[in-house]
Amino acid sequence: MKFFVDTADIDAIAELNALGMVDGVTTNPSLIKKSGRDIMEVTKEICDLVDGPVSAEVTATDADTMIAEGRKLVEIADNIAVKVPLTWDGLKACKVLTDEGHMVNVTLCFSANQALLAAKAGATFISPFIGRLDDINLDGMDLIGDIRAIYDNYGYETQILAASIRTVNHVTQSALVGADVMTAPPGVIKAMVNHPLTDKGLDAFLADIKAAGIKIL
Ligand code: E4P
Repeated sequence: MKFFVDTADIDAIAELNALGMVDGVTTNPSLIKKSGRDIMEVTKEICDLVDGPVSAEVTATDADTMIAEGRKLVEIADNIAVKVPLTWDGLKACKVLTDEGHMVNVTLCFSANQALLAAKAGATFISPFIGRLDDINLDGMDLIGDIRAIYDNYGYETQILAASIRTVNHVTQSALVGADVMTAPPGVIKAMVNHPLTDKGLDAFLADIKAAGIKIL
């Protein structure tokens, strides 16, 4: 499973990237706002840091302006994936930009039919939002499973990018149902290392190291 980090925080990306945990980055207008940085500048810095796809989202809602924005965004670096919303205009922009050879991430996906449309429009990535479905008492994981089945039935190559991941359990479940990629905030990726039995076991080993005076160096 590929791991994308869902942030525009350069330090957080660099820390995880040094451990080989970053296969790509996703940003959105809210994350750019949180960074307090200019979108072009911060996106360029992320692209310089990370080899994999870096999603940068358009700001327009009409297809022509989305296409123009997408063409400007891809000038930042070769690894830009233009992020467009799952609207009819977003799908038009997706088709034009992918036909031009650019990566496109179709975002704000909340249904299997939307994912089917995105695949037909040639999307590189489809981003179903798990956490936001959970927020309204629906099961985001059912959606990932449905998209997986539909894409496999017809051989669509669009990659399923599990987004709006809020918990470590979302990561496990996305991997189990076959998402190609998951994007999560740095805190969720770092929390995946935690297990109380690891802490308990290490405490016991440390006590024995101290009691026995075990030394290696
Ligand atoms: C993905 O590309 C989005 O940026 C992100 O996962 C949204 O997550 P949220 O629903 O927690 O804001």
